Amino acid sequence: MATIKALLLLAVMAISAAMVTPAHDNYVKKKMGSEKYTHLRLYVHLAFSGVNATTVKVVQGPTNKSLGFGDMLVADNPITEDIDLSSKLIGREQGFTVGVSRDPDFSKTIFLLTINLAFTEGEHNGSTITLSGRDTIFNVERELPVLGGTGAFRLARGYSFWTIVSLNFTGNTTIEGDIHVFHY
Ligand SMILES: *[C@@H]1O[C@H](CO)[C@@H](O)[C@H](O)[C@H]1NC(C)=O
Ligand SMILES: *[C@@H]1O[C@H](CO)[C@@H](O)[C@H](O)[C@H]1NC(C)=O
Ligand SMILES: *[C@@H]1O[C@H](CO)[C@@H](O)[C@H](O)[C@H]1NC(C)=O
Ligand SMILES: *[C@@H]1O[C@H](CO)[C@@H](O)[C@H](O)[C@H]1NC(C)=O
Ligand SMILES: *[C@@H]1O[C@H](CO)[C@@H](O)[C@H](O)[C@H]1NC(C)=O
Repeated sequence: MATIKALLLLAVMAISAAMVTPAHDNYVKKKMGSEKYTHLRLYVHLAFSGVNATTVKVVQGPTNKSLGFGDMLVADNPITEDIDLSSKLIGREQGFTVGVSRDPDFSKTIFLLTINLAFTEGEHNGSTITLSGRDTIFNVERELPVLGGTGAFRLARGYSFWTIVSLNFTGNTTIEGDIHVFHY
């Protein structure tokens, strides 16, 4: 009992000492600038087949489904300003996704997607936005949280909606992204 009391006292003393320790010269307290809001609408193009496929299954899970539990896909997809692949290229969508639901109902297949949007053009050139979350791949509209970012999108948080514009497993699939980002 006495030992516990002594330990508690020591802990309190340590905390008090930390509180009165003067700030070091290299410790500068700064106020953050004001938070900004950016809304982006962009298009991601997935090519599932061919020698230049941009979204590829790298691990086949234990099911025999085309997309299922344990499957892992890696992506390096072009992002364009407009719906056509031939419109202005503004960056790459790079990341991976893994099947995480055992539900035998194929339409309920869930993936865990972690992806970076890396911008290579315009005012966001060099900046990135990181998204990660539960991907209900067969829903017409999907929502994914924005977890962070770099450059212009430092300390980003937000939300995003993803809609399939056209789906073609032997050709190209186009997805529209509607991204709402709060950042500094
Ligand atoms: C499909 O996408 C690939 C890679 O992005 C591209 O090279 C190819 O031209 C596209 N095909 C069509 C039919 O748009
Ligand atoms: C694949 O990409 C390379 C390099 O960009 C290109 O030279 C080649 O024509 C492409 N092949 C096809 C089938 O699109
Ligand atoms: C998957 O397919 C292979 C070959 O067709 C078969 O041997 C295996 O039993 C199948 N596995 C399941 C889980 O259906
Ligand atoms: C984007 O940034 C890279 C690296 O800083 C630079 O090399 C490139 O020229 C820039 N592109 C445009 C279109 O500004
Ligand atoms: C899917 O893509 C292939 C290859 O580009 C094309 O031949 C086919 O017509 C496309 N299918 C649809 C439904 O657009």
